[in-house]
Amino acid sequence: MNLLFIGDVVGSPGRDMVKEYLPKLKEKYSPQLTIINGENAAGGKGITEKIYRQFLEQGAQAVTLGNHAWDNREIFEFIDDAKYLVRPANFPKDTPGKGLIFIKINQLEVAIINLQGRTFMNPIDCPFQKADELISIARERTPLIFVDFHAEVTSEKQALGWYLDGKVSAVVGTHTHVQTGDHRILPGGTAYLTDVGMTGPYDGILGMERSAVLKRFLTSLPVRFEVPTTGRNQLSAVNIELDNKTGLAKKIKPILINDDNPFFS
Ligand SMILES: [Fe+2]
Repeated sequence: MNLLFIGDVVGSPGRDMVKEYLPKLKEKYSPQLTIINGENAAGGKGITEKIYRQFLEQGAQAVTLGNHAWDNREIFEFIDDAKYLVRPANFPKDTPGKGLIFIKINQLEVAIINLQGRTFMNPIDCPFQKADELISIARERTPLIFVDFHAEVTSEKQALGWYLDGKVSAVVGTHTHVQTGDHRILPGGTAYLTDVGMTGPYDGILGMERSAVLKRFLTSLPVRFEVPTTGRNQLSAVNIELDNKTGLAKKIKPILINDDNPFFS
């Protein structure tokens, strides 16, 4: 199984990058499964049904979320019918949506789990215990299990990577918007990357317009963050190859496309 995961798509600049580069990435890496983190896809906060459907039409088979899942209220109207949308599984009981989905690829099935961290984030259920619970459900159907861990701190992400080593195919981090350089296959066979990075404005601050972020830091005044509509963009992703029988990883390769790291076909 060859899969491609695109990190946090931010607003229209991020969506433009997916539109432009997903076909090229598909040609270069031939993924059988493409997953997009879309929690920032609608103006930097949340996702709409139109954008979710656009991602599927552009060739993604699943869309993951995170702490901004509910920021665009439209989600409550379509999440129950969105079969390929995954929100953090450790949100409180009775939260709408699903935290584990299965995608069929020919004779194979891939389980996709979305979890959210707790350190410096809103209090939610334990991602480690929730992972155990969902992995035992997923394992009854498939050894191919992908985890998007949407978390703020590196230590919590590393901890989950080690905790799940040998139990899942891959643990990749999202949310902090900067791609880390620590991709590896852990000794038990799980592909790991602390953060895939962000797809959107390259010259913003974590994808947001710089002057507003700077004003917040310089004055501590409340400032509304906007996604810049002009300027250079980037795409962050990771390509992972799995052994279909064991579900363990054979290869993990981060992908970064921007003016300083041009795309080569
Ligand atoms: Fe996030």
